[in-house]
Amino acid sequence: MGAIKRHTPEFRRSPIAYAKYLMLIVIMVALAYKTLQADNNFAGSPPELDFIVEDLPSQTALAIDSSLTQRQKFEVFRQSQEVSPWGGSATDAPLFERLCRKHSDIFGFGHGGRDITDGIIRELAKNDAVVIMEVGVWLGQSTARWLNVHPNVRVIAVDPFSAPNGTHKKLSKVAEEDKVSFGQPEFNRALAQFAISKAAPGAHDRVVFETGLYPQAAQPLFQASKDERPAVDLFYLDGGKRTDTDAHLNFVEETIRGIVSEFPDVILSGDDWGFSKRFRSLIVEFAEGRNRSVYVGEARTWIMINDQDPRFSNAQSLLGKKVALSVARQ
Ligand SMILES: C[S@@+](CC[C@H](N)C(=O)[O-])C[C@H]1O[C@@H](n2cnc3c(N)ncnc32)[C@H](O)[C@@H]1O
Repeated sequence: MGAIKRHTPEFRRSPIAYAKYLMLIVIMVALAYKTLQADNNFAGSPPELDFIVEDLPSQTALAIDSSLTQRQKFEVFRQSQEVSPWGGSATDAPLFERLCRKHSDIFGFGHGGRDITDGIIRELAKNDAVVIMEVGVWLGQSTARWLNVHPNVRVIAVDPFSAPNGTHKKLSKVAEEDKVSFGQPEFNRALAQFAISKAAPGAHDRVVFETGLYPQAAQPLFQASKDERPAVDLFYLDGGKRTDTDAHLNFVEETIRGIVSEFPDVILSGDDWGFSKRFRSLIVEFAEGRNRSVYVGEARTWIMINDQDPRFSNAQSLLGKKVALSVARQ
């Protein structure tokens, strides 16, 4: 006997046809329910990490995953910190352009010996992002340098951005009307951002600016969850010099102690090796107590690494001879 068609008088009179029809509806409802449940499960599973980092608000991303790579952790951190517009307002642009073109000397203090730090950064950058925390940014010349060493470089740039102000001797050749805004953190930071964008084009999403004095200004990183924050791979110290030598040395000692206790594998580097015998002794004694060695470039840039670290075996020729304590004291 063939199936009875619906909407016919035979169908209406047959209880078996009705029962079959009802059964079909029940099966369809059950299938629809199962599909819905499967969809909900999918919504709860972690999607592609790139998607998390690029498209979700940072707090959500932090809550979702603790196995992010260093690059992804930096990106989440950057998005949680970004407060200032990149490069200042459109009205500043002509002034910034003019300062970059006519007064390139105001943007930094030279790079003597920094190639030893570049070499170590290059080795670190071979696999994942390298996060550099730079203390003392000024108008961004050194920050741009690190960014240009390798596309994997990321920088957390800490400075109050209140120097230089209009009376600084470096600005002596700048026109009076162009000096007036110097010293305001928003202006100096925007100028630094602009200069970096010129010197390291396209690198704006590889830098986070933290405005204020170290260590207070670095608290957002230190206070972030240890599993989820990016690790500082290299700490570069070029700020905090004071006329009071004891105060300066205390700052240096507390700073290097503090950063190593937060990030035990961090490489330390900095400017001003020639500052004083006490400064040099402090750096070398700190290294010797921790199975590290100090190398110096052009009597100016110093770097402290663990010689046994296999990542740096290629960089040894670039580093030269390590500094003995007796030499540091001379
Ligand atoms: C010599 S400049 C830095 C130069 C820059 N690294 C370069 O080579 O282009 C020193 C900077 O350190 C900053 N500074 C001083 N004390 C600081 C601190 N406690 N934390 C962060 N930056 C500080 C100053 O505002 C100044 O911009």
